[in-house]
Amino acid sequence: MYSSPIFEANFYHASEQAPQNAPIGIFDSGVGGLTVLRQLYRHLPQESVIYFGDTARLPYGIRSQAEILQFVREILTWMQQQQVKMVIMACNTSSALALEIVREEFNLPILGVILPGAKAAVQQGQRIGVIATPATAKSNAYRHAILEVDANAQVWQVGCPEFVPLIEQNRIHDPYTTEVARSYLEPLLAQKIDTLVYGCTHYPHLAPVLRSLLPSHVKLIDPAVHVVAACAQELDLLGIRNTQPPLPTRFAVSGCAQHFAQSGVQWLGYTPMVEEVCFTDTTVSHL
Ligand code: DGL
Repeated sequence: MYSSPIFEANFYHASEQAPQNAPIGIFDSGVGGLTVLRQLYRHLPQESVIYFGDTARLPYGIRSQAEILQFVREILTWMQQQQVKMVIMACNTSSALALEIVREEFNLPILGVILPGAKAAVQQGQRIGVIATPATAKSNAYRHAILEVDANAQVWQVGCPEFVPLIEQNRIHDPYTTEVARSYLEPLLAQKIDTLVYGCTHYPHLAPVLRSLLPSHVKLIDPAVHVVAACAQELDLLGIRNTQPPLPTRFAVSGCAQHFAQSGVQWLGYTPMVEEVCFTDTTVSHL
């Protein structure tokens, strides 16, 4: 039985470990996890990846914990069938509502984005704003994680229900998006935050909009950068870094493959080949 010193809650049988050249699984509700994939390309370019976007069921951020848990269990079951060696839950909502539970259920190293993001935030400031989906904000997962790392920090969280649909519809440069962002940031700026955490993996796609509204001294924390650093550490601890040339990234979605390919190209710099996967109650089939 292996217990990671970085992610203490994650126990699994090292004897059942997938081989070094197995892919890393990354999942999100949609294009948000591409912010994590980009960091992985940058910092762990030798790794093969399977990316899953649950686009038929987004946005996750307005769903109940029971729904999120069911979706995450289905995705992890599918990831196990694809024989991944590790999973990055590139979704804050899933990390906030399901990570602790599914870590007990799956014999697989599973990394979430919240703890790495919280650790990075307290290194930058003490007055920390978090923008997140309504479900993540309501869970208080960031507040708990930040205060666990630094009890003196102050945390303000804002749920931003309109952001994910606007990003998935590719309306980033729409003036309406700037107005929505201004209203979400207002209560945080009133608290004179010095640090702002992207508490949803979709939000780094809004970086130009958010940066234009924030005073220059406010530091922006992207947990994607920090979860990939944690992933590298974890691969080293387990001795499962890939040493062979990586395979092309496999993309799968539960919704429309063509839509994902069209919106993904701007974040990836290439047009991804996308498969459609359908989850039924207990089985998974390829369309
Ligand atoms: N990008 C995900 C997150 O980080 C999910 C957003 C959503 O589907 O609402 O929370």
